[in-house]
Amino acid sequence: MSDGEINVSAVRDRVIVFDTTLRDGEQSPGATLTAEEKLEVADALFKLQVDVIEAGFPAASPGDFEAVREIARRSAGTGVTIAGLARANKSDIERAAQAVAPAEKARIHTFIATSDIHLKYKLRMTREQVIERVREAVTLARSYVEDVEFSCEDATRSDREYMAEVFSVAVECGATTLNVPDTVGYTTPFEYYELISYLKENVRGAENVIFSVHCHDDLGMATANTLIAVKAGARQVEVTMNGIGERAGNTSLEEVVMALATRGNELGGAQTRVVTERLVPTSRLVSGLTGLAVQANKAIVGSNAFAHEAGIHQDGMLKERTTYEIMNPADVGWEGKSLVLGKHSGRAGFRAALSDLGIKLDDEAMQSAYERFLELADRKKHVTGADIEALIADQQVVSGSAIHLDDFSVTSGKGGDANAMVVVSRDGQQFAGRGTGNGPIDALLGAIDSALGLETELVYFQVEAVTPGEDAQGQVHVRVRHDGQTYSGHGLATDTVEASAKAYLAAIGHIASDQSEVVLAATSSTSRWT
Ligand code: KIV
Ligand code: ZN
Repeated sequence: MSDGEINVSAVRDRVIVFDTTLRDGEQSPGATLTAEEKLEVADALFKLQVDVIEAGFPAASPGDFEAVREIARRSAGTGVTIAGLARANKSDIERAAQAVAPAEKARIHTFIATSDIHLKYKLRMTREQVIERVREAVTLARSYVEDVEFSCEDATRSDREYMAEVFSVAVECGATTLNVPDTVGYTTPFEYYELISYLKENVRGAENVIFSVHCHDDLGMATANTLIAVKAGARQVEVTMNGIGERAGNTSLEEVVMALATRGNELGGAQTRVVTERLVPTSRLVSGLTGLAVQANKAIVGSNAFAHEAGIHQDGMLKERTTYEIMNPADVGWEGKSLVLGKHSGRAGFRAALSDLGIKLDDEAMQSAYERFLELADRKKHVTGADIEALIADQQVVSGSAIHLDDFSVTSGKGGDANAMVVVSRDGQQFAGRGTGNGPIDALLGAIDSALGLETELVYFQVEAVTPGEDAQGQVHVRVRHDGQTYSGHGLATDTVEASAKAYLAAIGHIASDQSEVVLAATSSTSRWT
C-alpha cells in the first residue's frame, strides 16, 4: 500500500487529517482567496502531509470549481486525497465529481441536515424524505468515486436514533466515511464522546467505515471536542490551519496534531502523519494570504506561544528547558529563530539557511528572495530563520500583487496632522498622491487613495512583530471594504508605516483583479507621475 493510502484496519492507530482550510476556512468573513492563493495554500498542505484536502465547494461558483479541479491535478504523486463538497442533490454531486476527477485519490463529500430544526425551517422535508435523499445522493456519488464521505449536518442537535438510521442507509449505499459535524459549535466533550460511541455501536456496518468529526468553536471547545471524539474511536479529524472558519472558526489543525503528538497516550495512542515542523510556516502563509492575523497567545503558532516573560520561568528555562516547555519549539517549526544570518552571509549562506528551513525555491524565486534578504540585512543586524520564513511567505503573497510601492515620505508631530506623499506603480505606470491624516499611517493610506483615485473603507488593521527586538520586521494585516465586498492584504517591512502601505496596496490589488471594471487612477490624471 502506498504511503498515505487509507484503509479502515490500517487507521486504528492513525488519525486521518482532513484539512478544510480551503472550504470551511475560506468561509471566514473576509478570508476570500484568489485562485492563485488557493494553489499556494494547497501546495503548503501537501508539504504538511495532511491526508485529505477539502479543496472547495465546486457548485458554489465557477471559481471554486476551477480551483478544486486545479488542486486535484496538482495532487498527483502527493498521496493526498482531494475532496469536493456537495449538497445531497444531483447537480452538486455531478459538479463535485467533475472537479475532483483529475485527482489520483478523489473524494466526494456530500451532506444534508438531520436535526428537526433544520428539517422544519430550512429543508422543509420530513425525516423519511431526508433518508430517501441520502440514499439517492450517496448512491450517485458512489457511481463516480470509491471514496464517499457523508455528513449529517447539525449532527449534535439531531435525534441520535434517527441519525443512526440515516448513517446506516449511507453505509448501505456505499459511504466510506461518516462525518458527525458539530455545525453550530454546541456540543460538550462528554456529550460528544457519548454520541460518537453510540453511533459506532448502532450504525449498521460501522466496523467497515471511518468515523469523522468536524467541530466549530462557538463555545471555545472545538479542540477538546475533537480530541475526545478521537478517544471514542473517531479516526478522521476535520480541521483548519489557525482554526479559521465560519463564525468563531473550526478546530485548529495545529492544536489537534500537537495534542496527539504530546498527549497521544492519554487519548488512545493514535497519531497523525503531519510534518509538525511545517506548522509555523504554513500558519504564516495562511494568515498572510487570508489577512486573518494569528493572535499572539494562540497555542503552537502564536508569536508568544514559546515566549517566557516571568523571571522565574526564564530562570527555570535556562537551567532546564523542560521545566516550563512541554513541546520543543523546533518540532513545530520555530527552530528558525535560532539561526542567524547577516549581510555578510552571502548567497551560499542564504541558500543553506533556506535548505535548513526546508524551503525550496526555483532560480528566479531564489534570486528575488536573496535580493530581499540583502535589503533586510541592510536594515536589520541579525536576520533570523523566522525573518526568512516571513520574507518567503510575503514573497509568495505579493507575487501576484499588481501595485508596487515605489516611494513615500511622511512627516508628523505630536498632536498635529501628519502629511504624506506616495509614488506607486502598476503595469509600469507611476502614480503619485498626497494625503493628510491624524497619524502617519492614516496620512499615507489617504495619499494612496488619492494616487489611485479609489475610495475604500478600512475595516481591520493589525500589526504584529515577526521576531522580538527593536529592529523586528512588522507584519501588517488589513481588511478593506469596497462595493460591499471585503478584501484582505498583508505587508512586511522593518518599518511599520511601510508595511501598512504594502498591506493596503495588496488589498487594493485584490479589488482591481476581482473587479475588472475598477480602473485605478482613471479619474486622477493629475496624479500621474511624470
Ligand atoms: O459545519 C458543518 O456542518 C459543515 C458540513 C458541510 C460538514 O461544514
Ligand atoms: Zn463546518
